[in-house]
Amino acid sequence: MPNLKSVADLERHRNRLAAAQDKDGLGVTICSGTGCHALRSDKVHEAFVSELRDHKLEGRVAVRRTGCHGFCEQGTIVTVMPLEVTYLQVKPEDVGEIVTTTLIAGEVCDRLLYHDGDDTGIVHEDDIPFYRHQTPYVFGLNRFIDPQDIDSYIARGGYQSLAKALSEMAPQEVLDEVKAANLRGRGGGGFPAGVKWQTTRDAPGDVKYVVVNADEGDPGAYMDRSLLEGNPHRVLEGLTIGAYAIGARQGFVYVRQEYPIAVENLSVALAQAREYGLLGSHILGSDLTFDVKVHRGAGAFVSGESSALMAAIEGRVGEPRPKYIRTSVSGIWGKPTNLNNVETWATVPLIIDKGAAWFGGIGTETSKGTKIFSLVGKVNNTGLVEVPMGMSLRQVVYDIGGGIPKDRKFKAVQTGGPSGGVIPEKLLDLPVDFDELDKAGSMMGSGGMIVMDEDTCMVDTARYYLSFLAEESCGKCVPCREGMHQMLAVLERICAGDGRMGDIELLEEIAEVTTDWSLCALGGSAANPVLSTVVNFREEYEAHIRERRCPAGVCKELVSYYIEPDRCQACMACLKNCAVGAISGGKKIVHVIDQAMCTKCGTCIDVCPSRFDAIVKISGVAVPEAVAPGTEVKRKRGRADD
Ligand SMILES: Cc1cc2nc3c(=O)[nH]c(=O)nc-3n(C[C@H](O)[C@H](O)[C@H](O)COP(=O)(O)O)c2cc1C
Ligand code: FES
Repeated sequence: MPNLKSVADLERHRNRLAAAQDKDGLGVTICSGTGCHALRSDKVHEAFVSELRDHKLEGRVAVRRTGCHGFCEQGTIVTVMPLEVTYLQVKPEDVGEIVTTTLIAGEVCDRLLYHDGDDTGIVHEDDIPFYRHQTPYVFGLNRFIDPQDIDSYIARGGYQSLAKALSEMAPQEVLDEVKAANLRGRGGGGFPAGVKWQTTRDAPGDVKYVVVNADEGDPGAYMDRSLLEGNPHRVLEGLTIGAYAIGARQGFVYVRQEYPIAVENLSVALAQAREYGLLGSHILGSDLTFDVKVHRGAGAFVSGESSALMAAIEGRVGEPRPKYIRTSVSGIWGKPTNLNNVETWATVPLIIDKGAAWFGGIGTETSKGTKIFSLVGKVNNTGLVEVPMGMSLRQVVYDIGGGIPKDRKFKAVQTGGPSGGVIPEKLLDLPVDFDELDKAGSMMGSGGMIVMDEDTCMVDTARYYLSFLAEESCGKCVPCREGMHQMLAVLERICAGDGRMGDIELLEEIAEVTTDWSLCALGGSAANPVLSTVVNFREEYEAHIRERRCPAGVCKELVSYYIEPDRCQACMACLKNCAVGAISGGKKIVHVIDQAMCTKCGTCIDVCPSRFDAIVKISGVAVPEAVAPGTEVKRKRGRADD
């Protein structure tokens, strides 16, 4: 283990690493992020180790476990070097073929490549449509780096920005560079990082703290987890640069306990950084003394809020406090504390390395750089995507996401997590940046993007998000605690078909109070999903209330399933699969659903063969009278068992 006592030591070490690289460059990287781990990437790794041993290739082929590549639904992702062939959905049983065909014979296994329709497979990861339109400046190193090996980060230029900051720039110069870049916080509000850093730096007192917010409580969001898992040194490097600029000697990473791989990789990274002298006293021979502690959060959404998070680090209950004095002036133990999101910190080395002018050339007028989104929901390609600020929603959903599955119609996209809002189809060309999303009644939040198709009920969507937020409210202030509870009660009765005239106006009224008077931004933004669905999909609320009709056919109390007697071919599929025995009929006898027994699980519609399409969902009108028991089917389309 080298102890790097100067910038020159770091440079020498990097050169040694470059010289020691295997000349053949034969190697395999196996994604071992949480998504691929869940798909048995550890078994794929074991299979490579054993297969290479059998072929006497151990030691000649570098086998490296990396962090998330972003395209998690296609895991386990394996890349073979030096050809840079990327294989998707790799199972342990595919490994033998990869070793003999690609590593030994230098050829490609077509069946494991990405295929767009019937085309020949795409060999390189960057050419896959999901990646082609991305600009992975912050996330891109993930796929090359073993997060448990500091050398693999250093070999790719890691800690170069810290070295530059310490050896070539005064603390205020570093801060000025971050200010000039107009780096806005990636964790929610989009507050300019440089302004907050300056406030903390200028606040009275010698003891200051810098903190990484890795709480990431938004359902469906996992970009912070993947960055921390896949490239923890990048986050630590950004944090150390921030500590230097602000004048802090102690840092914290607040990471949720439910992220075990992130916690493990971070802990290994911290130990290695200390051994290399990249944390501790006189870092790289400078006057900077700095170290980092990990605080594991218990997973409450509200504890991601700055004052709540700091209370938790102090050992108190993670609840927000009124912020008459900002945490950048009085944070952890009353000391000036600068909190930034994982992605914000991970962007800092890039700015120091390439400069504010370069960074300012990416993005829009007011939102610079790139943003990582987790693209999930009703979209063909789900995963993490990093795009320049200002890319349109349409490009994200269609060019990168590949559009909506099963040719369904796009309905909306929820951005900004549970306290964000829905963006309807008419705004699909909206350039995605902090301000445009705000103007559209949503927000950037930490970067969740949940795509919804025509089968999504917008009232039910608002109910779902509000129920999450109501559950997560700390309950300390009345507007948030009671406001959400009351809005939720109204939404529940609308979904149940008991909505009343005036309920929409009532929701708007409570939303105003909750927004204006809550203690923290949890209550302050909780009305967003309600208001944005009311503004963009008011007719759906009205259909529920006036006609007891759920246009998307989602709200159970407003939907019935009915078998059309003329189409039923008595194939028995629905009858056999109904878990509660609500369907009667028999061979050649039309099947009938007993409406009183039906639990509306929807299994019958799923199993009814598409060539018959005999089952329909009905909402807002009475279910037609059932045919007489024993009615024989009209065989129109050949035999039922064709
Ligand atoms: C209820 C609530 C939850 C939050 N959760 C997170 C979170 O999980 N991660 C995060 O970075 N910021 C979260 N924030 C925002 C933080 O309070 C804070 O603004 C952010 O960490 C600052 O970092 P940034 O300026 O780099 O975005 C949350 C805010 C609220 C009100
Ligand atoms: S975890 Fe492997 S691609 Fe995301």
